Amino acid sequence: MNVIVCNNAEAVADKAYEIVADIITAKPDAVLGLATGSTPVGLYRRLIEGYRQGKLSFRKIRSLNLDEYVGLPETHDQSYRYFMNDNLFDHIDIDKAETHVPCGTADDLQKAADEYTRLAASMPRDVQILGIGSNGHIAFNEPGTPFDSETHIVTLKESTRRDNARFFASIDEVPTHAVTMGIKTILNAKKIILVATGTNKADAVYNMINGPISEDCPASALRNHPDVDVIVDRDAAAKL
Ligand code: F6R
Repeated sequence: MNVIVCNNAEAVADKAYEIVADIITAKPDAVLGLATGSTPVGLYRRLIEGYRQGKLSFRKIRSLNLDEYVGLPETHDQSYRYFMNDNLFDHIDIDKAETHVPCGTADDLQKAADEYTRLAASMPRDVQILGIGSNGHIAFNEPGTPFDSETHIVTLKESTRRDNARFFASIDEVPTHAVTMGIKTILNAKKIILVATGTNKADAVYNMINGPISEDCPASALRNHPDVDVIVDRDAAAKL
């Protein structure tokens, strides 16, 4: 793992942007693996800015997102499809038909999940952006998830629902289930960039880098990947 400690969250976003912009410039039809959550928003703002300044084009870019809540339609302002449109896709020249987010409203959720696994296999990601949960989750792969998992339905841990309650009117409105790309699928990306900021990520970042490689810390699976950049601010790096 290549660990890069930056002064603050803005510098984390600057660094992540630098790497992703280089990939898009070198390969205009790159496949991007994208994440939701607050941490990558600074990166997405910079990608929008790069597009507005004419430095980047997303016309041939395709994307695959990590996860989606079960039960929230695309029009719900807390669905991850809505988040991606609002924070990135609506502001760049990407073909939305080429942007993929797992489906959380299918009648047969596992069948839709299996289709997503096949889609991911047919679109090898040049780079996968990841955040990390305070409990060490990546995507919605909670502690205990087998490292050989593909896209599947998960019951969210109470700690994850609490962490995400800030986006909803109350914790009762946070969905109890989600569909997530599995750890094996995530590790298939050619390159991985994990971004983390803030003191509430310090334990998870420490365990990912220095703890045992174990299902207790899903992010520790990334140590089995040959090309991972971990970009963290000083707060998230506090325990390293
Ligand atoms: C989002 C995702 C989650 C988040 C993680 C951190 O697609 O997969 O694993 O990356 O929960 O979220 P933030 O960035 O909001 O702290």
